[in-house]
Amino acid sequence: MTTSEIHWAELNAAALHAMRRAYAPYSRYPVGAAALTDDGRIVTGCNVENAAYGVGLCAECGLVSELINTGGGTLRALACVNAHGEAIAPCGRCRQLLSEHGGADLLVQMPDGIRPMSEILPGAFGGGDLDAVVPDPTPRSTHE
Ligand code: THU
Repeated sequence: MTTSEIHWAELNAAALHAMRRAYAPYSRYPVGAAALTDDGRIVTGCNVENAAYGVGLCAECGLVSELINTGGGTLRALACVNAHGEAIAPCGRCRQLLSEHGGADLLVQMPDGIRPMSEILPGAFGGGDLDAVVPDPTPRSTHE
């Protein structure tokens, strides 16, 4: 799937919609995320904060939960937006989270343009790294 085959406007609209459902009373920084899957679904998520600040969930966490809970599959393209509808960079933890389910080829809308995961999380740790040490690893995703 190439960048031109992806309806980025549709993904951004879905991310904006999700952003409006965010629960972000502490940071007042609502975030919405939307991604296209390999079978054509759009999955979304919003950030959900907590009075115990450290346990707050990023929008991408909710998105990955929806991905798995609606049948799984591989993420192909992702847009993440702030309250102004502007593209934001997924945080480092979320890059790792997304990498598990989209692999190196996942296209991510960054503030400076569309970039593959391989560029924004180079040298990513993945399930393959476990094989060298763990004799019979837990079943994992097939991105590697
Ligand atoms: N946030 C996300 O939802 N995704 C990111 O990739 C970056 C940050 C949220 C976490 C927190 O609720 C708020 O934005 C401010 O950091």
